Amino acid sequence: MNLTSLDTIQQDALGALEAASGLADLEAWYQRYFGRERGELNMLMREIPKVEPSERKAFGQGVNRIKGEIEARYQERLAAAEREALAERLVAERVDVTLPGRSLPMGKRHPLTQTLDQIVDVFARLGFGVAEGPEVEDDWHNFTALNTPADHPAREMQDTFYLGGDEAAGRLLRTHTSSVQIRVMENSQPPLRYLMPGRVYRRDAVTGRHYPIFHQIEGLVVDERTTFADLKGTLTAAMRELFGPDRKIRFRPSFFPFTEPSAEYDVECILCSGEGCRLCSQTGWLEIGGCGMVDPNVLTAVNIDPERYTGFAFGFGAERIAMLKHGIPDIRLYWENHARFLEQF
Ligand code: DAH
Repeated sequence: MNLTSLDTIQQDALGALEAASGLADLEAWYQRYFGRERGELNMLMREIPKVEPSERKAFGQGVNRIKGEIEARYQERLAAAEREALAERLVAERVDVTLPGRSLPMGKRHPLTQTLDQIVDVFARLGFGVAEGPEVEDDWHNFTALNTPADHPAREMQDTFYLGGDEAAGRLLRTHTSSVQIRVMENSQPPLRYLMPGRVYRRDAVTGRHYPIFHQIEGLVVDERTTFADLKGTLTAAMRELFGPDRKIRFRPSFFPFTEPSAEYDVECILCSGEGCRLCSQTGWLEIGGCGMVDPNVLTAVNIDPERYTGFAFGFGAERIAMLKHGIPDIRLYWENHARFLEQF
């Protein structure tokens, strides 16, 4: 080993360095020359003690010099290769920030839920609280306490889902939300002012207008000196909120076991405004629901003194309200849950 062989080694190392391209090549080169154990330049260090003492100092300095120069050139090549690799990555990972974003599909409340919420809101502004009751009821709350005697046709097996298929067992799916009136009056004393929305069940065949599960909105007001005029005023105000401020409302005498007197109420047709059209079957009116003054027998059944208190009640179907308001032609649409239907609301 002498100084001339150092020049040769330097030239070889630099030549190999220039020939290397890319980070992987450079790393291999580095291992070859600077590798801790077998790197050629590190091995040179071990040659130093073997050199003639008179030449040793110059040789040692030579080794250090070429090591320094080679290392410096390596650092330049490494930095350039890293810049290049980064530039390539930036090109490969380029995103077009001007592309429009993908919109996320937004979930919505079911049209029926929207209508129920709106109705609750209208009555809340008239001072009604909300009450709920169980869908599995007993005979007392669904019929007996509502002044519906044992032989009343509404109890018939054809109309009511009795649990266990047996009327005698006395458990059933409630056929109307009027059962919640009884629960409210059993649990609290007048003055009472409640709206009672909920699911009800009847043994109806599925058609465009009937479905065995549907929703009703029940209302109940009990206080001293509550009159039929209060009933008319309340329902008229609520229906005008729902169907338009100038709608006419009419009340027709009717019969329900739990009210006396009883009435049905209609809203002037929202399509033809009373002219007569297909929606209202040429009558000019849309039937909405039933109502009346709470029968004294009902108040007595729940231990409210009918001499001191009077009350009114009303009920109507929620599906029908939403169908009228949105022009929904078939009740089955509520249950099929096709996105193209639901997205419209
Ligand atoms: N429960 C009756 C039905 O399902 C509707 C009804 C009529 C409710 C008169 C009432 C009422 O509260 O007073 O057909």
